[in-house]
Amino acid sequence: MLFEEIVKKNSSFLLNNKMHDPKVFKTPDLENEIITIFNNLTEDASWSFENLSRKETSYATHGYHRYPAKFIPQLARRCIEDYSTEGEIVCDPFMGCGTTLVEALISGRKAVGVDINPVAWLITKAKAVPIEPEKLKKEINKILSDISAFIEFKKNKIKPLKEIDIEPTIPDNERIKYWFPHDYIREELGIILGRINRIEDLEIRNFCLCAFSQILKNCSVWLMKSVKPTRDLKKKPADPFQAFKKHINYMVRGNEELFKLMPEHVKRSLDKYLIAERRDARDLPCKSNSVSLIVTSPPYVTSYEYADLHQLTALWLGYTKNVIEFREGFIGSIYKRTAIYDGIKSEIAKKEIKELEKKSKREAEAVRNYFFEMQQCFEEMHRILKHGGKACIVIGNTELKKVKILNAEVFVEIMLNIGFGIHKIIKRRIPSKTLPSTRDSKTGRFTSNHKADRLAYAYEYILIMEKL
Ligand SMILES: C[S@@+](CC[C@H](N)C(=O)[O-])C[C@H]1O[C@@H](n2cnc3c(N)ncnc32)[C@H](O)[C@@H]1O
Repeated sequence: MLFEEIVKKNSSFLLNNKMHDPKVFKTPDLENEIITIFNNLTEDASWSFENLSRKETSYATHGYHRYPAKFIPQLARRCIEDYSTEGEIVCDPFMGCGTTLVEALISGRKAVGVDINPVAWLITKAKAVPIEPEKLKKEINKILSDISAFIEFKKNKIKPLKEIDIEPTIPDNERIKYWFPHDYIREELGIILGRINRIEDLEIRNFCLCAFSQILKNCSVWLMKSVKPTRDLKKKPADPFQAFKKHINYMVRGNEELFKLMPEHVKRSLDKYLIAERRDARDLPCKSNSVSLIVTSPPYVTSYEYADLHQLTALWLGYTKNVIEFREGFIGSIYKRTAIYDGIKSEIAKKEIKELEKKSKREAEAVRNYFFEMQQCFEEMHRILKHGGKACIVIGNTELKKVKILNAEVFVEIMLNIGFGIHKIIKRRIPSKTLPSTRDSKTGRFTSNHKADRLAYAYEYILIMEKL
């Protein structure tokens, strides 16, 4: 059977079965129907964006800050243009560093995003809010010159021409010493942060905090290639002031580009066009039936521990004193303390969990929690979407302890069971440069080692689901 026929057959079967209809939930065939749809999908090369250069994928403000598993702006843009019109609301419940929000604003849509991670909020605000370029340049030059003069004064006792009042800010926390063992680095970072904290303009302060956050890893002994917090005591950390200066000047150019690209009417009333909050995806700041489109890439299970990965920023900016506490609320974490699931509406998920239980109880529990919490997120997405509104979910499948975790198939099953229909499923190749192929679970390093016990595939899916 041709792929189109399969999708048509299955979609009409699935679309015609209305939500909360127990027949759908119990349909013995649903699971197989979904598996068949996925098995018959062929790659859509137009969604790979393989020819884009790094410069193109980090245009305007998109290169402000690294962020694990961020998606490329061109993908978000295409979904936005295909499934919404100007003035409509586009939402990203896992906004990460704000890719969807920036693209929505540039294309004249209203953007709403939340993320449980305060670092995500900080980056998104910096990336999505254009600042008048001349005003920004003037302020940044002043800040850089103050910091440079103050460091000179501290180092060589050369008195600056004018009095510079900076109160170095170094959090009193053992973990800061652990990651930044060199005294002069902590002191220089403290001076930079002290000066940033004195900036009165909230947008400019936020812009500078984003630059500060981005340089922290380079200035620490954090092993750069690892996705797990690992120290590299042989590393020569970057000089804080030089790194800050270089990065903030790069950001100044990005801001100028964003300022030109964002429509005048959006810039003029940005408070009506942008809502970005630190919040849980299960409690979105949107009225029921108000959103036209959701474009998002959810967290994966036991993959990136966002709280751990952003601990340097969290510690320096005082978001937390304690990494264990900071993990609270993150979906997909292996460190969940309480099991809260109560019925996952997916037979595929139940089978995978049973299989995984034989290998690792802990990981099986994490997967169970993950799917249940994602189900709650889909219910919330369903609430805020207008009828006919689309949810574009970017997700790939994984393998844990050699058990296939078919996230995409499970998401589709859950979503069908809570009142979505399939509009389209796109299979896209992940360009090799961003592909986390195999990882060692102890160090988190990418490896080609056959012993690696977790695996991500070369493809991912864009599930375009419609609220019925
Ligand atoms: C794959 S990332 C999103 C990346 C994003 N598309 C981008 O381009 O930057 C998944 C995000 O989900 C967030 N997250 C995890 N649990 C959450 C929760 N309970 N509520 C909201 N966001 C959550 C993580 O902090 C992370 O930023």
